[in-house]
Amino acid sequence: MLEELDRLQSEGLKDLGEVSDAQALEQWRIVFLGGKGRMKAAAGWLKDVPGPEKPAAGKRLNEVKNTLEQAFEDRKQILGGGTPKASAGGKRGTGPVLDLTEPGLELPFGRRHIISRVRNELCEVFARMGFEVAEERELEDDEHNFVHLNIPEDHPAREPIDNFYIDEPDGKERPRMLRSQTSTVQIRVLEDAIAKGWGPPLKFVAPGRVYRPDTVDATHSFMFHQIEGLYVDRRVTLIDLKTTLFQFAKSYFGPDAEVRLRPSFFPFTEPSAEFDMKIRLNPNQPAKWVELGGCGLVDPAVLSAVGLDPEEWTGFAFGFGIERIAMGRYSIPDIRLLYENDVRFLRQI
Ligand code: DAH
Repeated sequence: MLEELDRLQSEGLKDLGEVSDAQALEQWRIVFLGGKGRMKAAAGWLKDVPGPEKPAAGKRLNEVKNTLEQAFEDRKQILGGGTPKASAGGKRGTGPVLDLTEPGLELPFGRRHIISRVRNELCEVFARMGFEVAEERELEDDEHNFVHLNIPEDHPAREPIDNFYIDEPDGKERPRMLRSQTSTVQIRVLEDAIAKGWGPPLKFVAPGRVYRPDTVDATHSFMFHQIEGLYVDRRVTLIDLKTTLFQFAKSYFGPDAEVRLRPSFFPFTEPSAEFDMKIRLNPNQPAKWVELGGCGLVDPAVLSAVGLDPEEWTGFAFGFGIERIAMGRYSIPDIRLLYENDVRFLRQI
């Protein structure tokens, strides 16, 4: 049987080589691979093969079948789809058929994560109001995270339990930490600008990551993002701050945005306020007042700390949570959704 199978294979391949149009190809298929074709008949020989030789014969039978089927497919490709219609017209149909009306393959599109998108959008909105964009280090010293921001040595915000301090090799002058707020950038940029003679006047926003050892829940995370704003110039007033923030809210959330300033306290601003906005975090619940962050007029002590004369210079500052803004803008009820990176969630926004 093995020899007969060899013969079947070589005859099949030889005949196939002579096939030159789709009709002949179909004819060949019927003869060799059809329901009543020679391959089928060959399968019938198996029952007459003596037991011990059966496995080898069966194996060869499969090989021949696969070889002929593959050769048929290859030939079909070359002849152009193998449909009799394709080659019925003669010469023109003998090449591969290209159907330009066939829909293409849909390739998946990548895109930026929602946090990055909101960060970029916020920078854009503030840029339209004349703010530049600054970025600074996440590994800070306590001088920039606290001291120059008028947060005294014994302030509870400096407790090790509320901050990620770094284990330092002995001899390091200042404790270092992962910054707990982007307000550090106020100091960094002011120092830099003054040293290089760029300003003030200065007007910038600074987006970036901040770190606090909070327990993760629907509204807290040990790492999140803030966007800081600082404007230092002569005669900056609370009205400038309020106008800027209200303009921002209407520009980013739409003309119906409801916002308010609520008196508060921060060591680096005086007076200080909390900036709230009415938002719907859960589509099934009514809108609620949510705190987006803090703001105020720059405390004279902060200006003095970087060597500016508070009699001459004034300023306002603000710092908002980017996650809060993203959650408000897209009605996302749980901050953890932003970090789990489940594409079924991310694709919706
Ligand atoms: N840094 C403050 C925080 O993380 C937020 C803040 C409040 C920033 C008032 C400011 C400000 O610039 O003026 O809670």
